[in-house]
Amino acid sequence: LAGLKGRPVKVSPARRLAWSVLLAVSEKGDRAEAALSRRLAQIRLSQPDRALASELVYGVLRWQGWLDYVLGRFSRRPLAGLSIEVLSLLRLGAYQILRLDRVPDRAAVHTSVELARTRFPEWTAGFVNAVLRAVAEKGPGLAPPPAGDGLAAHLAASQSHPAWLVERWLEELGEEETRALLAANNTPPGLCLRVRLEPGREALAARLAEAGLETRPGLYSPQALYAPGSNLERLEEVAPGLFTAQAEAAQLVGLAAAPPAGGRVLDLCAGVGGKTGHLAELMADRGLVLALDKDAGRLEVGRERLARLGLKSVRFQAADVLQALPPEASEPFDAVLVDAPCSGLGVLRGRPEVRWRLSPQDPARLARLQTALLGAAADLVRPGGTLVYATCSLLGEENQAVVSAFLAARADFEVEPLADLVPPSVRPLVQESGFLVTWPQRHDLDGFFVARLKRRS
Ligand SMILES: C[S@@+](CC[C@H](N)C(=O)[O-])C[C@H]1O[C@@H](n2cnc3c(N)ncnc32)[C@H](O)[C@@H]1O
Repeated sequence: LAGLKGRPVKVSPARRLAWSVLLAVSEKGDRAEAALSRRLAQIRLSQPDRALASELVYGVLRWQGWLDYVLGRFSRRPLAGLSIEVLSLLRLGAYQILRLDRVPDRAAVHTSVELARTRFPEWTAGFVNAVLRAVAEKGPGLAPPPAGDGLAAHLAASQSHPAWLVERWLEELGEEETRALLAANNTPPGLCLRVRLEPGREALAARLAEAGLETRPGLYSPQALYAPGSNLERLEEVAPGLFTAQAEAAQLVGLAAAPPAGGRVLDLCAGVGGKTGHLAELMADRGLVLALDKDAGRLEVGRERLARLGLKSVRFQAADVLQALPPEASEPFDAVLVDAPCSGLGVLRGRPEVRWRLSPQDPARLARLQTALLGAAADLVRPGGTLVYATCSLLGEENQAVVSAFLAARADFEVEPLADLVPPSVRPLVQESGFLVTWPQRHDLDGFFVARLKRRS
């Protein structure tokens, strides 16, 4: 690497890569997971360096609120006035100092300073050095703002969430649950597989165990198998085509839809096809699953994924369903799934950046979109058929409130209580209302909401 004035600078490749991913996430709005795997595919890194790069990206995004609180105390210039490149370098250094025991402070400071030198004049590197040295010296002893001066500000800083969101959860959940939820959101989820119905979970676990890969079954979805400490490439090598990576809570959506084998099913917001494939599997790959999404690129990923699983009953079609439906959707469906675009607040464990992207106005804007999608979906359900509404949000405004407004407008639909339909292991997650709700702090699952509605005959 050439530094300023052609000076060779030796920079930690893992940190350099993490820095570029953090920039792609904050400047271009990329998903952390996608930006990280794209860059890891472009550059050859040792396994420990790959692990470090990933730890740094997710760690910085998860703890950004706390890191900025600490950095703000020791930077003579306001953080808001710094370029995102410099701020990201400071966060990278501060994360290693404050939250990674295995990196000595000296190395954390030095590597950020060296990275600064690859792009900026010496005085910027000097500024990064001064701030991070102060963080190393006094940061670990710094307390968050006292709870007595404002609980939301205290929790926002100490648990690294935006204050507006903490305030909303405090209103909806109270202090104790909010504290537990914030802590759970900062705990990374384990890698979870959705195992093909054939040969089933036990057979796959046995095959992986033979290869020395440890697993444990999920508590709720009969198809969920956790493979902590494994990576997907290795698992694919050992058991190709026998599973797909999917969070356990996301598996509950397909189980709640319980689509009929041989039927006509519509997946209105299919995205990358995570749930589409599950629907087709549950239908024994018989009948039709029509998978629509307005994002043709995401559908293409889904198409490839399902081809790998050998599923043939799915048809993908790009369509903005609020504008015009394709001719294939002209006949009514036995079941329609609306896996709605939402705030994503239930999946902060694995997608920590989402919390920094949302604004306080987003939940209301999304609720309007969700209501419109649910309305468009309703007309496509045959009398006696099923409409399933799902989100990975943890705000009532995007969940119960959307369903209540829908039911008030559509007397031809009623709630179909999920407890009667789902496998016994899923029943504890069904509320009295008949809806299925999962919480990171209560169930160690991502946060999902699922409502099953029936069109009266
Ligand atoms: C929660 S994601 C779906 C995830 C997907 N079901 C899965 O399991 O992988 C919501 C999707 O809704 C799509 N979407 C949003 N508005 C839409 C519209 N008007 N018409 C069709 N799709 C839409 C987005 O492109 C996004 O892929």
